[in-house]
Amino acid sequence: MLLGVAFVPVSPAAPVVMPGSGDHRAEKQRLLDELRARYERESPLVREMPGWTNIVFGVGDPDARLMFVGEAPGADEDAQGVPFVGRSGQLLTKMIEAMGLSRDAVYIANVLKVRPPGNRTPTIDEASKDGPFLREQIRIIGPEVIVTLGKPAANLLLENSEAMGKMRGHWREYEGVPVMPTYHPAFLLRSYTEENRRKVWSDLSQVVDRLGLRG
Ligand code: URA
Repeated sequence: MLLGVAFVPVSPAAPVVMPGSGDHRAEKQRLLDELRARYERESPLVREMPGWTNIVFGVGDPDARLMFVGEAPGADEDAQGVPFVGRSGQLLTKMIEAMGLSRDAVYIANVLKVRPPGNRTPTIDEASKDGPFLREQIRIIGPEVIVTLGKPAANLLLENSEAMGKMRGHWREYEGVPVMPTYHPAFLLRSYTEENRRKVWSDLSQVVDRLGLRG
């Protein structure tokens, strides 16, 4: 009963990664490394945001078919320099595994690459300062599907200010890439109702179908 919803996990035999050539993947990793170095030099938030420890740039397969975009690093992510490793991250990992995938097979990034003090929600100004780096990350990876986790990521990529309740579960598009907005795992942890778990699983199931991951 993952997410508290009875469902049949996707067959592990499903094709989880579209094998790109090693060279292709290595080239994308090189471009991401370059972008990260540029982020350190050029992002205004690196200088303006008080109190962060590590840049949390992104993790996973640079040639992933599926990319998750969250909000901003929390305390655990800031300490380790890796996105989604705290409580929300553990739930995200379960969500990914329920889709028949592993964290290594997807790419995970955030709108902000440095932690806002006290884990507060990024301001629109902060999101617009780090947004170009996320957009470039997406362009390099070239995912077939993006899942946005929570309102700031969806609002940034879809250039709207709509509420999560309206956006979730409905396919949108970002630069020709299908986007599935769903609730942030932190929201799910706070409001761990059967209804919310069902909604998130329903959103992720649409992604599973779209990527042809059902065995
Ligand atoms: N919440 C996010 O949005 N991103 C993280 O990396 C961790 C928690």
